[in-house]
Amino acid sequence: TTITFIHADNRSETVEAADGDSLMMAALSHGVDGIVAECGGNAVCATCHVYVDEAWASKLDPVTDDEDALLDGTAAERRPNSRLSCQIKIQPALAGLVIRIPDRQS
Ligand code: FES
Repeated sequence: TTITFIHADNRSETVEAADGDSLMMAALSHGVDGIVAECGGNAVCATCHVYVDEAWASKLDPVTDDEDALLDGTAAERRPNSRLSCQIKIQPALAGLVIRIPDRQS
């Protein structure tokens, strides 16, 4: 499933992500920098913060209470389209997803 990451400096990288992986894993396994993921995907660190392109935000599963609480503690400002990338599962329906990476994770 094709996912495009856009960095804070507007560099963009498009990767072919494996279905079933988290978005965080897809970034890490393709060498996309800017996602730290200190907790390894356990939804406790908030260093995998991303901004989901507006057109896609409503197509994702809703934010859970745990994710919501963590998003209040992100290093870069929280926006309405903020998500934790470890909580987004890659699936074919997300082909073409565009993700913006914040300028910092800590
Ligand atoms: Fe830690 Fe996502 S990797 S919250």
